Amino acid sequence: MTAVRVGVLLSGRGSNFSALVAGFERLRTPAQVVLVVSDEATAGGLERATEMGIDSRVVSPKDYPTRAAHEAAMIAVLKDAGVEWVCLAGFMRILGPDFVRAFPSRILNIHPSLLPSFPGLHAQRQAVAYGVLWSGCTVHLVDEGLDSGPIVGQRVVRVLEDDTEESLSSRILEEEHKLYSESLHRLLLVGWRIEGRRVLFDE
Ligand code: GRF
Repeated sequence: MTAVRVGVLLSGRGSNFSALVAGFERLRTPAQVVLVVSDEATAGGLERATEMGIDSRVVSPKDYPTRAAHEAAMIAVLKDAGVEWVCLAGFMRILGPDFVRAFPSRILNIHPSLLPSFPGLHAQRQAVAYGVLWSGCTVHLVDEGLDSGPIVGQRVVRVLEDDTEESLSSRILEEEHKLYSESLHRLLLVGWRIEGRRVLFDE
């Protein structure tokens, strides 16, 4: 099986991006990250890409007049690189309809809560403040909403009484790093279909 070409979109440090690359290697996933695209020139993930010998590009919204033009530029660099699947890894923007339609059912996101609880920013802070006993992380297909597409996988993390946003975030992050590659691995190797909000695997 030839490796599926994966593009990663990020805005920050890129630990999930690194974990995806390591996970594909560990699991022998037929997938290869061929391009990292950042909307932020200072994102740490860009340095990680360079260290790993993976091409990267900055596509900043500041260089485009509209959101649609910015997204069109990101679509163009991804398509030029032959990207088939897009993984959002700490990408701090909501994607519009043109982008979602450019990679139909081939965009994944990872979010640090058990969706649909605590979508949006500071999910771990929201979980601590709410007083939930369990949180975790979710990998889902991306639609035009905020953290709202069909769920592919989740991992659960106990919230401890003395947890802070930082301590909970770091335990959830450990699970994120395993869940993301495992989720794409499964999507690539097992048949699946979407029924309503559900991703159903032929297992
Ligand atoms: C992660 O917590 C991810 O779930 C969220 O943004 C954070 C990105 O962290 N979407 P990193 O840049 O992958 O280290």
